[in-house]
Parts: sequence; C-alpha cells; structure tokens
Amino acid sequence: MGNRLERKVAIVTGGGTGIGEAICKRFAQEGARVIVAGLPDDPVEEVAREIEKQGGIAYYYKGDLSVLANAQACVELAARMYGQLDILINNAGVFPETNYMQDFTEEAFDYLIRNNIKTTFVMSKAALPELHKTQGNIVTAGSEAGHMGEPQAVPYGGTKGFNHAFTKGMASEQAQFGVRCNIVAPGPVDTAWTHASTGPMSAEMEKQTTTGTLMGRRGTPEEVANVYLFVASDEASYVTGAIYYVDGGTTIAKGPMGDKAAANLKKEPKDSLNLSHSMEGNVSVRS
Ligand SMILES: NC(=O)c1ccc[n+]([C@@H]2O[C@H](COP(=O)([O-])OP(=O)(O)OC[C@H]3O[C@@H](n4cnc5c(N)ncnc54)[C@H](O)[C@@H]3O)[C@@H](O)[C@H]2O)c1
Repeated sequence: MGNRLERKVAIVTGGGTGIGEAICKRFAQEGARVIVAGLPDDPVEEVAREIEKQGGIAYYYKGDLSVLANAQACVELAARMYGQLDILINNAGVFPETNYMQDFTEEAFDYLIRNNIKTTFVMSKAALPELHKTQGNIVTAGSEAGHMGEPQAVPYGGTKGFNHAFTKGMASEQAQFGVRCNIVAPGPVDTAWTHASTGPMSAEMEKQTTTGTLMGRRGTPEEVANVYLFVASDEASYVTGAIYYVDGGTTIAKGPMGDKAAANLKKEPKDSLNLSHSMEGNVSVRS
C-alpha cells in the first residue's frame, strides 16, 4: 500500500468494470477511500468487497448516474460515509454499437448521449459543491477518438469530444473555486469494448485498433489507472485543463505501425491489481 492519495475521498463512476475497476483498486492501494459507483447490474458491490479484502476502504453506489437525483445521492453517500469528497472520476461510459453512419441506430446514439455525456454533466454538477469545500479535482474519461474521431463509431467519438471541451470549460471556470479539472484520453484498452468476442467491434476493427498503436497492443486497465492516479493526486497540483493521452501512440501513428513495435513495448505488464471484471463492461444498449 502507498500513500499518494492518503486522506482523499474519491467517487469513480463506472467503477464496477474495465478501467473503472482498476482506478478504484489503484486509488484504494494509495490510501483513498472510494465510492465504487455504477449501474444497478454492474459488479460494484463485488469490487468494493474485493478492495476491503485487500485492506482498502470502499463503499458502493448503484444507480443510473445520468439522472441528477442519483448523482446527488451518490455524492451525499460520500459526504455521509467519509465526511468529504476530494476527487470525482467521470469514467462511466458505453460502447453499444459499431456501424457506418448511414446505418448507425438512433437508439444507440441516444444511449451514448445519455451515458457518456449526461453522466459527466450531472455528476460534475452534483459533486462541485463538495469539491469547493476540499479544493478537490475532477478527471473525466476522454478518448483518442474524442480528438481524432472514430470510424464506425462516429457518435461515440463525438461524445468523447464533448467531454474534452466540457472538462476544459470547467477547468477555466472552476479555478476560481480552487478546483482542477482534467481529462485522461485512452487509446484501445484491454476491456470488453476492444475484443470482437465481447463487444461490438468486428475482428477487422479489433486488429486495426491494436496495429494502429505504436506499441502494437492494447493498454491495460492498470496502465490507464496509473495516469488517473497522478492527475488526481496533489502531485499534479499545477495541472488543470490538460488532456493526458494514454494511447500507446495511437494519435501520432501513421498507418499500422504496431507491426513494427519492439518486443518490450509489445508486452503487456502483468496485472498486479487482481482485476476480476475487466471484460464485463457496457457493450450493448441496455433497457
Ligand atoms: N476501453 C477502451 O478502449 C477505451 C478507450 C478510450 C476511452 N475509454 C473510456 O474509458 C471509460 C471506461 O471504459 P471501459 O472500457 O472500462 O468500459 P466498461 O464498459 O468496462 O466500463 C464503463 C462502466 O460505466 C458504467 N456506466 C455506463 N453508463 C452508466 C450510468 N449511466 N450510470 C452508472 N454507470 C454507468 C457501465 O455500466 C460500465 O460498468 C469510458 O468512459 C470510455 O469511453 C475506453
């Protein structure tokens, strides 16, 4: 156990699966008290229990965090259980469909807007009064797709572009209240979203996704969580309005450079967080 987030309280939205599970576990390892927040059928209770088994402190919140009343209840839980809130991680998101624009369903578009955009809005709105008290910070999940666009997931890339501009806007506005706001923008990460066997990507998209990085592989949830940890900690006290790309070089790669990556870069580091839910993410429109 480390102490880089000692005495801090963090809410992680979408904390039950994928990158969110890794953020919860990594933050708890560094002394944060965590609220693992997610949809009612996400394994948030399990993640909270697993953290406690490893000696950390965690509660869970179940509810649709695109609804303001639920977002407020989640923030109230942190304030009631821990007495404060220092960090909001806007990580919740969905990747329900891949299709060319002319075929992309309106249903999946609406689902993306609700879960990728409205969650960020209502959670930030609900958390800011508490973050003003602690001079805390917000880190929002962007994506290299929010910068470059995403073929066959055009609306998804659009939602992430929204999150980039939204969070930079908050950074400019909220500095006067003592709050930093930043973005972590991953490239392809080893979760349910990037495997043809567990999400909506075709085998061809899956291959392009990894060969389009300079590393020739996906990032691991833990590699992304490590960057969230730095940005959310006091070590990043002079960082606000920034986008941290954790994308294995995707945004600067020209063509399928991953095929040429050296073996050391190509090798995924071993999972040290005992992740159990990295492949159980939100990959279809749920009612
Ligand atoms: N996996 C990648 O390759 C990748 C790349 C770039 C960015 N990201 C971003 O990282 C974040 C996590 O992605 P992941 O791959 O871990 O996916 P994931 O599906 O495993 O995790 C997202 C979690 O958010 C939850 N969620 C969605 N809507 C919610 C709502 N309204 N209320 C509460 N919880 C909600 C989901 O149910 C899920 O548990 C997303 O914001 C995504 O856009 C992921």
